[in-house]
Amino acid sequence: MPFDLAALRFWEAPELTSLGRLPMRSPLMPYPSIESARLADRRSSVWFRSLDGTWRFRRYDAPGEVPTTIGDEEFDDTDWDDIDVPGCWTMQGHGRPQYTNVQMPFAGVPPVVPDANPTGCYRTRFEVPDGWAGRRVIIHLGSAESVVAVFMNGTFVGLSKDSRLACEFDVTDFVRAGPGNVLACIVVQWSDATYLEDQDQWWHAGLQRETFVWSRGPVHIEDVKVTARLTGDATGNASGNPTGTLDLRVEVGGAPDAGWSVDARLEKPDGSPVETTVRLGGEVPTNVGFGFTGNVVRGKSDVVGIDAWSSEAPNLYRLLISLLDPEGRVGEVVAVQIGFRNLEIIGRELRINGRPVLIRGVNRHDFHPETGRVVSEDDLRADVIAMKQFGFNAVRTSHYPSDPRFLDLCDEYGLYVIDEANIETHANMFTLCHDPRYLAAWVERVARMVRRDKNHACVIFWSLGNESGHGANHEAAAAWVRKYDASRPLHYEGAVMFGWDRGRSVTDVVCPMYPTIDAIVAWADAPRPDDERPLIMCEYSHAMGNSNGSVADYWEAIEAHPGLQGGFIWEWWDHGLRQTLPDGSVRSAYGGDFGDRPHDDNFCIDGVVWPDRRPKPALYEHRQLALPVRVRWAEGAAAAGSVIVENRQDFTGTSWLRFTCDVLVDGEVTATHQVPLPEIDPGTEATVALPFDLPTADGGLECSLLFHLVLATDEAWAPAEFELGFVQLDVVSREGGPIGHPSSPAPVTPIRPRTDGGRLQTLVEGSRLSLWRAPVDNDRVHAGLPSEGTPAHRWRSWGLTDPTTHPHDIGHLQTTSVDPTGAVVVDEEVVIPDALYDLARVGIVLTFPRGLEHLEWFGRGPTETYPDRRLAAPVQRWLSTVTGEYVPYIRPQEHGGHEDVRWVRITDGDGRGFELAFEEPLHVSASHFTAADLAEATHDVELVPRLETIVHIDVAHRGLGTASCGPDTLPAYLVGPGSYRWRWRICSIPAD
Ligand code: GAL
Ligand code: MG
Repeated sequence: MPFDLAALRFWEAPELTSLGRLPMRSPLMPYPSIESARLADRRSSVWFRSLDGTWRFRRYDAPGEVPTTIGDEEFDDTDWDDIDVPGCWTMQGHGRPQYTNVQMPFAGVPPVVPDANPTGCYRTRFEVPDGWAGRRVIIHLGSAESVVAVFMNGTFVGLSKDSRLACEFDVTDFVRAGPGNVLACIVVQWSDATYLEDQDQWWHAGLQRETFVWSRGPVHIEDVKVTARLTGDATGNASGNPTGTLDLRVEVGGAPDAGWSVDARLEKPDGSPVETTVRLGGEVPTNVGFGFTGNVVRGKSDVVGIDAWSSEAPNLYRLLISLLDPEGRVGEVVAVQIGFRNLEIIGRELRINGRPVLIRGVNRHDFHPETGRVVSEDDLRADVIAMKQFGFNAVRTSHYPSDPRFLDLCDEYGLYVIDEANIETHANMFTLCHDPRYLAAWVERVARMVRRDKNHACVIFWSLGNESGHGANHEAAAAWVRKYDASRPLHYEGAVMFGWDRGRSVTDVVCPMYPTIDAIVAWADAPRPDDERPLIMCEYSHAMGNSNGSVADYWEAIEAHPGLQGGFIWEWWDHGLRQTLPDGSVRSAYGGDFGDRPHDDNFCIDGVVWPDRRPKPALYEHRQLALPVRVRWAEGAAAAGSVIVENRQDFTGTSWLRFTCDVLVDGEVTATHQVPLPEIDPGTEATVALPFDLPTADGGLECSLLFHLVLATDEAWAPAEFELGFVQLDVVSREGGPIGHPSSPAPVTPIRPRTDGGRLQTLVEGSRLSLWRAPVDNDRVHAGLPSEGTPAHRWRSWGLTDPTTHPHDIGHLQTTSVDPTGAVVVDEEVVIPDALYDLARVGIVLTFPRGLEHLEWFGRGPTETYPDRRLAAPVQRWLSTVTGEYVPYIRPQEHGGHEDVRWVRITDGDGRGFELAFEEPLHVSASHFTAADLAEATHDVELVPRLETIVHIDVAHRGLGTASCGPDTLPAYLVGPGSYRWRWRICSIPAD
């Protein structure tokens, strides 16, 4: 009789988290020999068969519509479609994705979900190799959103919830050797579990991670738990190799008889053996009645002279564990990658291997612009490499356990991980955490993550989830983890949401999101004898659009105040999904673009990389802040040519780094020197004599050294010569005075006008006062929503958006004169009334005729800079094009500004054009778009460049801040009322 599973309404039963699902374990694959296990490529195991590929698929509108026979072998699926597994059906032509932040995608009261509930049915056939006879056969589904029911050759074998962790089912009794075994899965999109998965991201559905079938012996290694630590004074730094301890627990499954045993061996990645002081392994205990502790082999050993694991030096070892039958024959072997490292929380510090490592983190989702959230190993590796290249040492798997291969890569390349459980009840934040119907799901989601990831050196915190209040369910989950794995601290922001001194039972770190700098400093400065917890921001510096202002100010505070230990930028990805429009054009889509309702607009476009992983300018700022070494002039030694190099690392010397030093005179590179670095111990500094004579300005006005910090050797994540950032030190600094221009350094003294300045005069007269910018997201959106309290709203209501109709009480006086060279010199004075208390900018905008495409400037570049995000751009001469100045923020907004510009040239292909020079360095941008063009467009692809070049010259420009989610621009970077004066000069440049 067909089994009417739908009658159970299992998608509205929160107590029912699974049926028939095997316990979660480390992702271990058995191999028949040590040699094959060593390769650690599970696809190569004879006991592994991938199920990924093309499956048959049909989407029904509700689970009740699914025929009860779809699991049957003879079920006719010929009128079904093909679909790729893994894949999100929402990205494969069946339904659509939907983006919401806090709100649920549908109205409802947990655990009830809408009747209209997309339900995907999947079928595939596979072969069970003859060699698997007598063994257990297990189906592995890497991820199913949000609940999956599994059928094997027509028999219902179980179901599973928790979209971001794998489920496994033992199907031995339902398969037969040979081809044609039918696996069918029913995936229901909305369920009681959806309320636990209300993270701020796109909603998708389907089988989204790797699928495979594997086999193990009737007696097998069920799981391995390894705790690898350092003993004694074990900082694991350059001063010597510490001793490690290994604590091993091997659980044998399948109820072995007496005589089975386990053998473990430790080796280096190259396969060379590492001695343990005690031989690890032993006979597997069998049930002897009362007091039996399981078929578990335990062992503990010291390992002398190991290389510690840290993000700087991710030294890994391989532990090979063999299961031997009573005759001593190898039954199977598994491999575990381990790293020795310590974690402690003492004195308001998280100490990793004894050091209070500053956490330079970023939040990351599993995301892909084309597949939704199916990511390949190459994608994951590219993320990890880019994070390393941009100075991150940590990642939070917001807000669920990521694809398991990601953690392998974090071990391998060196990134500390906050591993977060798949729990977010944002829309029902203060109820579900107390709801006993959800208790099992809560504990299980945390416990399953911990069981899966326990052997990873990279995991330094277990996170109980995100934005789910603080209830009894959290306490239960925390208690479970503390008993199971005392080696790692807990993280949970919800516990400190209403008071940073709270929540100690569930969080060992004070981990607020989006605090102000003042608040974290005040917290750090107050004595807290009873609270050992460090403060690490789980989210800060919201990267929506052109953002991440003041990240440097955060870091100044973090470095100056013990107790503050870093944070995680929100977030890595701009979640723009690739969407082809009816006219064939392609755009990055955000909330609402698929007709999805309700939606939260472009709030998902908030990463430091664009959807194709190209870095946004803000990422360079982070890289600058994270430089492993810093450089300053030795005291009074500018003349003597010595610098002090400080090694900011915790564990590593400097031999992997060196400098290439450019000498800049008036922004131009006049010489380049190689500067080798001596070996400097971590946390110390050394004086380095520069191997060249210091330049003089030599007729120019200013002179500096630009040290490019590059890799001296190949690293796993970048080749030798790769640039990590720079340090610029002034030799002769610019001190106001004459306008810095190389060809006509005449001072700006207004003199009698000359008639050949007429054309320039017309241009200048055509310039307009400009007080507005195309709002950046931070100007427009606060706490996720466009609101009336935002600057963008005020600027509009003050009438500032149209430069031709400024309110009358703004004073603007422009005095022009012509200097002896024929250049027009302009004195500007602007008086802003008190009522206009917060402006985007004070400056003028000029429109240059078409054809002027080439740009050259002396100022910060090449990347855009703003007053509160300006570190990543050295002051020198830069070449660009007006078109090249465009920065493709997905929702168009102000961009392309350059700070500290001394002069700029705008020319055509023959070098003819104009030169603008400034008495004091100003903020300048050149674009083919007006501010209004940018403000009106909703997607970058809508913009049509003008032929003219629009140049803004600002004496003041509002910082970017991070107000779309977090504090507004700091007062120091605001543009207020009062009077502004500046002087500039324009001349025409004839063809060469
Ligand atoms: C946080 C949340 C993130 C994201 C962010 C804003 O409150 O934890 O998931 O929504 O705000 O982009
Ligand atoms: Mg949220």
